[in-house]
Amino acid sequence: MSLAIETDVLTDALGPFRPPAPRPPEGRLGLIKLLGKLKTNPLECWSAEFFREPIARVKLPFTQAVLVHDPLAIKRVLLDNAANYRKDPIQRRILSSGLADGLLSVEGERWDVQRRTLAPLFARRTVTSFTEAMLRAADRLSDKWRGFAPEESVDVAAELTLVTLNVLALTIFSDGIGGDFEDFRSAMNAYFGSIGRIDAFDLLRVPSFVPRPGRRRLLKTMAYFENVIDEIINVRQRRLETAQECGAAEDLLTLLLRALDPSTGRPMSLAEVRSNILTFLSAGHETTANTLAWSAFLLSQSAEWYAKVRDEADRELAGDRNGLTDRLNVTRAVVEEALRLYPPIAALSRISEQGDRLAGVDIRPRSLIVIAPYVLHRHLSLWDRPDVFDPSRFLGEAKAKIARFAYLPFGAGARTCIGSSFALQEATIVLAALVQRFDMQLLPDAVVWPIQKITLRPANGLPMRITPRRLN
Ligand code: HEM
Repeated sequence: MSLAIETDVLTDALGPFRPPAPRPPEGRLGLIKLLGKLKTNPLECWSAEFFREPIARVKLPFTQAVLVHDPLAIKRVLLDNAANYRKDPIQRRILSSGLADGLLSVEGERWDVQRRTLAPLFARRTVTSFTEAMLRAADRLSDKWRGFAPEESVDVAAELTLVTLNVLALTIFSDGIGGDFEDFRSAMNAYFGSIGRIDAFDLLRVPSFVPRPGRRRLLKTMAYFENVIDEIINVRQRRLETAQECGAAEDLLTLLLRALDPSTGRPMSLAEVRSNILTFLSAGHETTANTLAWSAFLLSQSAEWYAKVRDEADRELAGDRNGLTDRLNVTRAVVEEALRLYPPIAALSRISEQGDRLAGVDIRPRSLIVIAPYVLHRHLSLWDRPDVFDPSRFLGEAKAKIARFAYLPFGAGARTCIGSSFALQEATIVLAALVQRFDMQLLPDAVVWPIQKITLRPANGLPMRITPRRLN
């Protein structure tokens, strides 16, 4: 057994494991401090009061924000009265042009049509058909990991972003990306690095006519990757036309190019196809990678759960591929607990159109509504010992007792994540395969700390020692 697991027996023996998280300040932050934290780590903005109260108003210079963490009020915002709560236009500004025509950004009738058209791409049967691709990506990563020297320090967070990109490449462009994978990856990183630069101006609602520094350079970087994607789509489209649909890969790109609006029979425009490819890459890459990274970290700190996942993987991975994710019940509970403690999308926002009343508080028109899964998942009125790592919350009867609107890693209502089954399946399968094959030991001097940079990730990566499992 690895050193990590021996040390962790000690951690388990010392009492429940409380994974690292900022200690919420007792009072509210003043404007200057708030600005600073929004830039460095928005997770540190949440005051202790927000983890106790169902609803709170916060005054910002250009608007008023209402923080909503009461399950019934959240249900009203995301489901019952959802028409009154539009997606926050700030997202469009941050996401910029390339993703503007994709499902994540469109609104109203355009969203309706796209959601209907895209639904079959993420239906259970389609997602299950990607099981092999997910296992193949785990195999590729395992081959790479077997090549590490015994004492080598490996940033497992970075490794897991490779595996999730690989899964997307295998499921979207299963016949390849028409060039070097490394070039594609660096162009993509530059692209999402550019659109990912939330500036504090946007978060504070500074009007859009106030110039944002560096915008022009960012747009140039972005155009480059958009052209790469266009070329891949063009090649596939030609292949679909010339092969009269046989011989072309049955992957998400083919499904997208063939998808028809069930009401009108109309296909998507090329701009929509491109925007949705970019949307899947952006929405499905880092989020799932972070889920895997936090799951690996949490397991590395608990010998008990590491052993349970490994037993389950030994039992289930060699068997039937059908229903595999459902049978990897314990592994999935670990993933779900990681999503509770470290939800990759730490906060959602909406704008109220009309006035409303939420949790006994009057909401003015044009209020900024913030629902933070990070706060909700650690709310003292909703969870028992919320700061403790305990995957058994997501098993059996305990799971059935979780209030529907108390756990929202994928959002809820009409605009809930379309890729949630895809992501859960991928994280569960890849985690099980890696735990089965390797011991993952956090380096003793590693400082693991959550930071919110678009997604919630480990600030300093996840330096680990990876050792192939010794079979007795
Ligand atoms: C663990 C991984 C993931 C997490 C935590 C996550 C989280 C979320 C959340 C919270 C939303 C709702 C945002 C809101 O209501 O404002 C969302 C929407 C969305 N997600 Fe995911 N997501 C994940 C993986 C994926 C994957 C793998 C894909 C696709 C390949 C994807 C595609 C989308 C799309 C297209 C939307 C917009 C849906 C709509 O507005 O109709 N996500 N996601």
